[in-house]
Amino acid sequence: VINNSGKVAAVFGVRNDLSISYKVASSLKESGANVALSYTKDTKVDVLALADDLSIPSELCMEVDVRSEEQIAAFLSMLNLKFSGIDYILHGVAYGNHHVMCSAGIGSVDKTSSEYIDIPFEDLMDSFNISAYSLLRISRVAKPFLNKSASILSLTYNASTRVNAKYGGMSVNKAALENITMYLADYFGPMGVRVNTISAGFVMSTSAAGIQGARSLRKLGKEISPLGNIKAQDVANAALYYFSDLSSKVTGNLHFVDGGMNIMAVSSMRD
Ligand SMILES: NC(=O)c1ccc[n+]([C@@H]2O[C@H](COP(=O)([O-])OP(=O)(O)OC[C@H]3O[C@@H](n4cnc5c(N)ncnc54)[C@H](O)[C@@H]3O)[C@@H](O)[C@H]2O)c1
Repeated sequence: VINNSGKVAAVFGVRNDLSISYKVASSLKESGANVALSYTKDTKVDVLALADDLSIPSELCMEVDVRSEEQIAAFLSMLNLKFSGIDYILHGVAYGNHHVMCSAGIGSVDKTSSEYIDIPFEDLMDSFNISAYSLLRISRVAKPFLNKSASILSLTYNASTRVNAKYGGMSVNKAALENITMYLADYFGPMGVRVNTISAGFVMSTSAAGIQGARSLRKLGKEISPLGNIKAQDVANAALYYFSDLSSKVTGNLHFVDGGMNIMAVSSMRD
């Protein structure tokens, strides 16, 4: 059992109890860590209620739009002031509108094309800002506050190196996130700070449910992954390892928690 008492964690990306970040936050809390949660305007009420359930004081929760360096700084410096240093950071944030995700936008009145070829540059750049560049931005702001052997972790998806038509423009953000992970691992190496990413199998979170064909993806996972589909808790278990000293010499790693789906050719469907 991993003991995180005295450790300090900043978790970005809890929306509700289906969020992968929620499971990571609750596992960190259960293992004794002090946990701080960011929320957005939309998720404030839900996140504060979940914080209460987890016995996380509301003073450790703050509104952060990850496009804002100032809001990230306010959140992380509050945490640093309270605990004199930060040990763990979870980046569990992603967003792309229906143009970026190449989906019709259920109930949307927007009848403009949502084909891959038509993804508007500004929409893609905004989703890149939120989903990929924010890892660099958060790491930059956190740098002066990081304790020795701190660990930064993000969540990615295997559409970074494979085509999944309904993941659309988010794929390039995940490819960038994985690349940024390697460069940050190199950058932070001399400080002893580690940077890794977990490539999660499909979990039916609120964001994931918005992907067209979400149910087919779960079905596919069940059919072809050697270990079947995963749960958010499976990601949280691996996250605890990446935060802990058990992974003290592991950095720049892309770690699959996908039931083994990534090794399979799609044609190898089980019957
Ligand atoms: N669910 C899956 O199948 C799956 C698989 C692989 C990777 N992931 C990744 O896991 C991470 C968490 O996603 P999830 O599936 O738990 O969904 P989720 O919807 O619960 O989490 C996404 C979070 O991003 C936050 N967010 C969006 N825009 C933001 C902004 N501008 N500033 C700050 N926060 C913002 C949302 O508030 C939400 O909390 C994402 O990076 C996602 O791409 C998910």
